Amino acid sequence: MKKQKTQQSVGSLRILGFLFGFARPHMLPFMIGLLLYTSQQVTFSLLNATLMGGITGAILDGNPAGLLAAGLIVLGMLAVMAALLYVGVVLFAVGGLKTARRLQTKIFRTYVSADIEGRAHSGERLSALNTDVTHVNQLFDGALPGLLMWLFPIVTLSVTVFAIQWQVGLVTVAAGLFAMGGQYLFAKPLARIAKGTLEAVAAATKTVGDIFSGGIIARVFKLQENLQKMFGHSNDQLLRLANREAQVTGAQKLFSGISQLLTTGGVFVVGSILVSQREMSLVTLMTMVPMCASVAEALSAIGGAWAGMQAPLEAGKRIHGLLGGDNRVEPLSEQKAPAVSGGYRIETKDLTFSFKNTEKPILSGVNLAVEENQLAAFVGASGSGKSTLLKVIAGLYDCEALHITVGNKPFDSTHIEGWRGHFAYVDQSCALFNLTVAENIALGKEGATPEEIRAAAAEADADAFIRALPQGYDTPVGEVGGMLSGGQRQRIAIARALIRRSPVLVFDEATSALDAQSEGEVIATINRLRAKHTILMATHNLASIQPDITFRVEDGGVTVV
Ligand SMILES: Nc1ncnc2c1ncn2[C@@H]1O[C@H](COP(=O)(O)OP(=O)(O)O)[C@@H](O)[C@H]1O
Ligand SMILES: [Mg+2]
Repeated sequence: MKKQKTQQSVGSLRILGFLFGFARPHMLPFMIGLLLYTSQQVTFSLLNATLMGGITGAILDGNPAGLLAAGLIVLGMLAVMAALLYVGVVLFAVGGLKTARRLQTKIFRTYVSADIEGRAHSGERLSALNTDVTHVNQLFDGALPGLLMWLFPIVTLSVTVFAIQWQVGLVTVAAGLFAMGGQYLFAKPLARIAKGTLEAVAAATKTVGDIFSGGIIARVFKLQENLQKMFGHSNDQLLRLANREAQVTGAQKLFSGISQLLTTGGVFVVGSILVSQREMSLVTLMTMVPMCASVAEALSAIGGAWAGMQAPLEAGKRIHGLLGGDNRVEPLSEQKAPAVSGGYRIETKDLTFSFKNTEKPILSGVNLAVEENQLAAFVGASGSGKSTLLKVIAGLYDCEALHITVGNKPFDSTHIEGWRGHFAYVDQSCALFNLTVAENIALGKEGATPEEIRAAAAEADADAFIRALPQGYDTPVGEVGGMLSGGQRQRIAIARALIRRSPVLVFDEATSALDAQSEGEVIATINRLRAKHTILMATHNLASIQPDITFRVEDGGVTVV
């Protein structure tokens, strides 16, 4: 039991460290902001103390000038406080937002890098990007400042209170620790509620994702009822948890109120005894009361802030799992494909590859060679590893050392972005984005000119039909989705690949989703591209392709057919 508890707290610290990794570049302004915000708390306490002491003194002395002086001091301090508060809050809120942004960037890039493929459902990924990041942001712009802002006042105020009157100090700290302990106890149920809430949100997002991606299937198989039930179930769960959270935070607030009353009451009781015994003046007591209240409030707030950090920490845990604990956000690569001399011959030696989440290698000891401007076909049963092999060669998976050469250049995992420049990749999904036709093609090359776009389209045999669209190259793909045949979409995708001017073209079942006529047209396009490119192609259609060399992928290995 005890051991479990230690493990849990180590977990939270590790998550904090992981999340702080994303805050690192913004640490200085964030810390300055926190410091200003924090000192504002001290100013507030001093202000209160000055006010109470000054007023009491002035009343006892019957001195209106003293009252005025106290008032002026209070006004001046108020102005200082407002300024500190404003600058402080802005600085750390902006730091928090920038941190959340970096976190989002990292998650987004992890998704794009395909390293995460098969490890999380798209709904799960979507909710990580939104809900979880929002919760983590609360750590930086709410819970963490809430925790830290009390540390400084606690030390300064406790020392002051003890210095003025140690008995009163003792009562204050004892009451404060009681309040802190009580608040701390609320952390556990709140963590459980937060975990359940995030899971339910992810489940709901997952169901919605299924509806978006499989709408037709859902209709065919009458899954609407089931999906709706699943969605409803997640929402019921959320409602229950929200209800539970309201109860717990309600109890927490009640406890906080009671413990503050206890503190003030205790201070007054002990203080009045001391005043009646002439150990302390009434002015001192009245000066001390707000300070003591602040100390107790601070201790209670630290316990409360820890409870408030549970939801962000739970979100952090989910993101930690998703990213495998990696919190490096490197600048986007400017790498270019390394220059190759002596032709684009592709060779692999004893190539072995396994996914991070599977033990058994998908590919082992693959030896193959494709000469420059050859068309190599890859055949094999579904699931044999054709797509994996092509993606590994094209650098689409993050891998360590691999024995692949393109011409005289060996694969270098530290230059994987540059390596990808050797290849243009087209698969059967030919995903087009919700942009115009020209913009979709231009995605293949940053800063592509209209001439380049047209040339690539012409090479992909797409120029003629694109010109015939309502707005030609400026036609939004989303609006004409239905007007484009599968073959036309595929040829836009090929143009997007060709505009990269990569010497090696990779087609992964690029024609298998097409009808016979479209397939014939795309194959004619590919056949025309053979003269100037080395082509790697996973296909079932050997008859019309007539490859220069055919490889069979089987049991993780490759043999020439
Ligand atoms: N991201 C992934 N994570 C784990 N296993 C995967 C992943 N992608 C594919 N696989 C597995 O690798 C094997 C080969 O898949 P794939 O290369 O897509 O085969 P093919 O293209 O020949 O049909 C299959 O068993 C598949 O389940
Ligand atoms: Mg495949």
